[in-house]
Amino acid sequence: MPEISRKNWEARLEAVRSDFAASALDCLATLEDLELFRVKYLGRKSELTELLKLLKDLAPEDKRALGPQAQKLKSGIETAVARRQAELEDELLQSKLANESLDVTLPSYREPRGRLHPLTLVMDEMTRILTLMGFSLAQGPHVETERHNFEALNIPKHHPARDMLDTFYLKDAPGVLRTHTSPVQVRVMEKQKPPLRIICPGRVFRHEEVDASHSSVFHQIEGLAVDKGVSFADLKGTLDFFLKELFGSGTQTRYRPSYFPFTEPSTEVDVRCLFCGGSGCSACKRSGWMEILGAGVVNPNVFKAVGLDPAQWSGFAFGVGVERVAMLRLGVSDMRLFYENDQRFLSQFDENLA
Ligand code: DAH
Repeated sequence: MPEISRKNWEARLEAVRSDFAASALDCLATLEDLELFRVKYLGRKSELTELLKLLKDLAPEDKRALGPQAQKLKSGIETAVARRQAELEDELLQSKLANESLDVTLPSYREPRGRLHPLTLVMDEMTRILTLMGFSLAQGPHVETERHNFEALNIPKHHPARDMLDTFYLKDAPGVLRTHTSPVQVRVMEKQKPPLRIICPGRVFRHEEVDASHSSVFHQIEGLAVDKGVSFADLKGTLDFFLKELFGSGTQTRYRPSYFPFTEPSTEVDVRCLFCGGSGCSACKRSGWMEILGAGVVNPNVFKAVGLDPAQWSGFAFGVGVERVAMLRLGVSDMRLFYENDQRFLSQFDENLA
């Protein structure tokens, strides 16, 4: 005896069909609601599943006739659920895309940006000009031998430059902290045969009382050119060009006779006061000129010290104080500002040296 009559089964299937037809599938707003819906119509305990199970209790010919109807309804519901699921997933994706979209026109966060120290900026600028003029970079150690720092530069034992008051001598070893970059001239000529043109930017050390224009650690740029027939005129042409590039094309220069043991003749070079233009102010001590560097024609004794024949070779050399140039170039009146690491001071200067 079948537990369910065909009529009854058909009536129940029809109820499911009309219930589904009246359902608000398209109004389901979330995937969770859709899942509840799916369980209700297609789940293990749903009426439809139950009816499919009951098919086996029907007569074979009823089974054959009704089975496909139930399957058809089932696959119809499955298709509808799948379609709604695809719609909901798409809506979800669209709303995610809308909410997470990136507005590339918004201003970005400002990253704190480091910058180079003004002394580095000025030293780089001087180095840039000189390398464009054909000088290559050379280096030497901060701890120097007395031979390189003094003797080979024609600074004999009794010379005042060697005074304990100026020079830092090492305690437990021979050698000194270099008092200028000139020993690099010696080091280069010991290694390289002329013709040569080098500069050496670097740090130097002197036992000096610190004040507005003195520091015990400061910077110089050394220059040396050696070739056949190099004259004072070459030195003058080179320095004039360099100083005009550095301070502006209208820069006037003045060459005063001076004395350095390693050059003969020697000169100190001044530029027209950058602050008053020559009329006299406190920056130039009312002279209208500012001293910029020392220079000269290489002393034959220096050539002899490195084994070069002074009858064959000649050259010029110069030494520029970086701090001094930086103070003039940047309008800074106290050298100590460069070493105090006050960000308010340091952050005023950029690559344009403005
Ligand atoms: N070495 C010198 C100083 O520290 C500067 C100097 C003067 C360097 C004349 C030179 C030069 O090369 O020719 O005071």
